[in-house]
Amino acid sequence: MTDLSTTIAGVKFPSCFMNAAGALCVTRDELVALGKSCAGAIVTKSMTIESRQGNPEPRYYGFPGGSINSMGLPNLGYKAYAELIPELKTFGKPVIASVAGLCEDGL
Ligand SMILES: Cc1cc2nc3c(=O)[nH]c(=O)nc-3n(C[C@H](O)[C@H](O)[C@H](O)COP(=O)(O)O)c2cc1C
Repeated sequence: MTDLSTTIAGVKFPSCFMNAAGALCVTRDELVALGKSCAGAIVTKSMTIESRQGNPEPRYYGFPGGSINSMGLPNLGYKAYAELIPELKTFGKPVIASVAGLCEDGL
């Protein structure tokens, strides 16, 4: 099999391909699925301090040429993701926490 591994800033990735922040990486089950996959890292949904439901549906529309969305940052809140990190690290690939702020102070 072709070696797709790479090293970025001293961090080794088993593959240079990984999910974009926000794409099927909100829940524990989605993050575990990424762990079990060939993805070179587990990138989390962008997390805020408090959990968020996000915008009311419809908020995502997919079509053959792409998609458009206004999800409203639905996420579990940073504490829930922090608690998942030990489990996610057992998959032996980097876990990348995407963080989001809602104002200049980050709160
Ligand atoms: C449903 C959905 C949710 C997304 N959520 C986030 C997010 O939480 N944080 C973020 O930085 N980008 C988010 N994105 C943007 C993607 O990470 C990615 O940047 C975008 O799909 C464009 O891909 P590209 O950067 O490869 O062009 C989201 C995209 C989609 C489709």
